[in-house]
Amino acid sequence: MRIRDGRAEWYRNRWVRSSSISDQLGEPGHGRAITGPDFGPNVHVIGHAGRTFALVEDLLRPYELGYELDTVGPCDLGRTEDGFSVNAHAKHDPHTGELHAVAFYSGLDYVKHIVVDPDGSTIQATDIPVPGRPYMHDFALTERFVVVYDLPVTFGAAAPASGRWIPYVWNPEHPPRIGVLPRSGGPIRWFEVSPCFVGHTLNAYDDGASIVIDVIRFGPGFEPADIGGNRPMVDRWTIDLDTGKVDERRIDDRPQDFPRVNESLVSRPHRYGYTAASSLYAAHEPRATFTNALIKHDFATGRSEAHQFAHDAAAGEAVFVPSAGATAEDDGYLMSFVHSPERGAADLVILSAQDVSGDPLARIHLPGRVPLGFHGSWLTD
Ligand SMILES: [Fe+2]
Repeated sequence: MRIRDGRAEWYRNRWVRSSSISDQLGEPGHGRAITGPDFGPNVHVIGHAGRTFALVEDLLRPYELGYELDTVGPCDLGRTEDGFSVNAHAKHDPHTGELHAVAFYSGLDYVKHIVVDPDGSTIQATDIPVPGRPYMHDFALTERFVVVYDLPVTFGAAAPASGRWIPYVWNPEHPPRIGVLPRSGGPIRWFEVSPCFVGHTLNAYDDGASIVIDVIRFGPGFEPADIGGNRPMVDRWTIDLDTGKVDERRIDDRPQDFPRVNESLVSRPHRYGYTAASSLYAAHEPRATFTNALIKHDFATGRSEAHQFAHDAAAGEAVFVPSAGATAEDDGYLMSFVHSPERGAADLVILSAQDVSGDPLARIHLPGRVPLGFHGSWLTD
């Protein structure tokens, strides 16, 4: 969606042309041919160094996209000699302009912290030994540290054969722990947590001798192939670097995911965060009335405010976009693709982040459905 001067100028939806997609569409390939797996990068779309990238995870390549979502081709964003690239939950440090990622591959007993400089040209990479093949979809970044989640959802070679569509399973034999790696160098330090799986980080920051991390946490027994079977909730982890203990606190026990924050505060203290309550997670829920909402959390007061959409609305992840000249953290807009059951098509809904439960500031009616996706970005032109 392109928005300018109070108008929605266009909406566009394109397959990323991996070699397989190009073949199926009878088109010539886009960019250079690559060896090895070449699946669609379907998890996130970000901007970096004035370019647009579609990202995935494992050893699969990012793809670069053009201004109107045409596929430029597979690319080397954060590429290392052993085949890692910047993966889906890469994070910008808004103070340095660097792009940080923690990349994993189920075939290796280490993961890699990758830093790409602001112009995208050079990288630094640090190996972190992590045996046991855990699934590391996301990580946390603070001003001083990188935090990795070594949790008991691990690669199960038998999973695809058993018909599971994700080859990772709950593994009670894998001790749950989180690792704190200093950004300035030095060894990683590990901290025990209770059995769980963390899919997404809302944000994290340093607080004296502590690290505060707000996460979306699934309870014990989480199976990625049965994502509606275990309720994701908002938790706060506070790592005490002096005592070596992690305080684990529930912030909101209603099922929700897709956390976002004002991106100028990634890795620095935040007060507000935004999540989406999806009907995906309500399949097994007695409280199924709480779905299809966008939620604003105030971590200072412990209060939250929700914008409830219609039954079957399927609210997607909201992106926070600051107002021009904003000084308050929540002075800005929440934008999300939300299905309109009445029209049988999607709207781009724009809420005021300072009045989340109020009427939308705008609803942009799209001509069709927007397939449910994962993550995306607002890129200022
Ligand atoms: Fe994700």
